[in-house]
Amino acid sequence: MFNGLTLAAFLQEEQRLHGLSPDLAGVVEDMARAIKQIAHHVSQGALGDVLGSTDAVNIQGEVQKKLDVEANDIILRCHESSGRVAAMASEEMDSIYLLPIGERRGDYLLVFDPLDGSTNIDINLSIGTIFSILPCPRGVNEPREIDFLQPGRNQVCAGYAIYSQATVLVLTLGRGVHSFTLDRQIGEFFLVQRDLRIAPQGHEYAINTSNWRFWEPPIRRYIEECHAGETGPRGKNFNMRWMGAMVADCHRVLSRGGVFLYPRDLRDPNKPGKLRQLYEANPIALLTEQAGGVASTGRRSILDLMPQTLHQRIPVILGAREEVRLIEDYHLDPPLQSM
Ligand code: AHG
Ligand code: MN
Ligand code: MN
Repeated sequence: MFNGLTLAAFLQEEQRLHGLSPDLAGVVEDMARAIKQIAHHVSQGALGDVLGSTDAVNIQGEVQKKLDVEANDIILRCHESSGRVAAMASEEMDSIYLLPIGERRGDYLLVFDPLDGSTNIDINLSIGTIFSILPCPRGVNEPREIDFLQPGRNQVCAGYAIYSQATVLVLTLGRGVHSFTLDRQIGEFFLVQRDLRIAPQGHEYAINTSNWRFWEPPIRRYIEECHAGETGPRGKNFNMRWMGAMVADCHRVLSRGGVFLYPRDLRDPNKPGKLRQLYEANPIALLTEQAGGVASTGRRSILDLMPQTLHQRIPVILGAREEVRLIEDYHLDPPLQSM
């Protein structure tokens, strides 16, 4: 057995040393319980009844996979009777989820992407779960959608699980980023790395280049310069990786550096990006900043932006500080703005 701190012991330490609220610790433990259940389903693969699609389409216009729905239900069930959350919202539900009548409402709002990287489910590649915990505004007993519309800076906890060779939980409570690996046999998460840091410079990038023709000039410029490698203006070679699951691509950035981009593109003027602010961009942005990186739309810090709707989309550029700052500089370049 791995001889490290369990997640429960880590959360107790946070309460003792940093005054972490027991209720917030409880929400994290409930989330970890949900993640273990989802990990079990994922690990069944074709032997479980979790592959393939349902007949339903979510509010994003995407066909829901069986595992999208199953993971969503698991997370709801793990939190709705805890007395610690006041309401929940997710990628797979059109509007917010109010607790069943009679359940005590707690102090937190939970927002999540139950299954990130859905197109990877049926081909046995990495997928994940992303979550964000916000304070429920004071005096609000019956939360409404507007109560969820808070900037990412308000998050009191953010994290994700990646279901891969191992199930890994990465989280921040606002004091650094810590990573836990699930011991499947005994069902416990163990702390394996404290204080993950993203190196300020990077030489690896992740972007879906099939969208090239829709990108704005600053993004084309940055990627063109990466392609040019040591013979171009950057004077160094870059490597490219794209897993097609934000969790997996950002886990690589948190683990070994580089940048992740899902920028604004011109495919649909109503969609200023693909990723959703509340349950994809914000939690990963907080983790990135807590690890010493930068998370930006190209023009502003992601965490400062006020979401307008529950399923708001937003451009995402995050990772190595100097790379993201350079991309932001390109967005300020006037000749390019007019192209
Ligand atoms: P989800 O499966 O939750 O809908 O999210 C998919 C997102 C994100 O995880 C990933 O980075 C991106 O979509 C992949 O987009 P492409 O299909 O353009 O590769
Ligand atoms: Mn997602
Ligand atoms: Mn999803």
